[in-house]
Amino acid sequence: MSALLSSLLILSLFSTGISLSSNYYEKTCPNAESLIRKAVRDAAKNDKKVPAALLRMHFHDCFIRGCDASVLLDSKGKNTAEKDGPPNVSLHAFYVIDNAKSAVESACPGIVSCADILALAARDAVVLSGGPSWVVPKGRKDGRTSLASETRQLPAPTFNISQLQQSFAQRGLSLKDLVALSGNYSSQIKLIKGRP
Ligand code: HEM
Repeated sequence: MSALLSSLLILSLFSTGISLSSNYYEKTCPNAESLIRKAVRDAAKNDKKVPAALLRMHFHDCFIRGCDASVLLDSKGKNTAEKDGPPNVSLHAFYVIDNAKSAVESACPGIVSCADILALAARDAVVLSGGPSWVVPKGRKDGRTSLASETRQLPAPTFNISQLQQSFAQRGLSLKDLVALSGNYSSQIKLIKGRP
């Protein structure tokens, strides 16, 4: 369990080199975390696939350009965004992040980044599914670049173990992280399918 926790934490720290802190919104948006938790809980009540969707969305966001919410950006003009890249077309439940963002914006406009909302929602999703909890360091900045072509960097379902290891290593994740994160992923799939 501690391997999973540290791997999830490392995953959610892929970032920009900026310093993050656990009490980042303590003064500026003290209710942010509870509002996000509520949005995730409300959505999961109606659709049991929501927690899995949020965890995967966070993983796919973090793998490309760090955890900067670039996966949430829509394609615009000639730019096809990550969201529309082949591995991401099956991502879903974006509305949960939209709902959380609206709730947080009503409470404290212009303060909480979408990148932090996604990282917190993924943590809440894991907890809701019976997994461990962890403190999410906050202060991520939202990216403005989102390119479908970069989703090629996500590990493919056809990858063998060395390719998976290499793909994870390029993001500072060890073999242990790969095993811990994949284990968590399998648990989510079993939960969706209603198997123990
Ligand atoms: C190790 C390399 C990985 C590969 C090749 C991979 C590939 C895939 C594929 C092909 C799907 C099915 C998508 C579809 O429905 O069309 C999937 C679903 C999923 N993946 Fe991964 N994945 C990997 C790692 C991870 C990790 C590390 C996590 C989370 C920490 C994760 C979380 C999930 C979840 C939760 C789903 C189900 C999503 C849903 O039904 O909404 N995956 N993955």
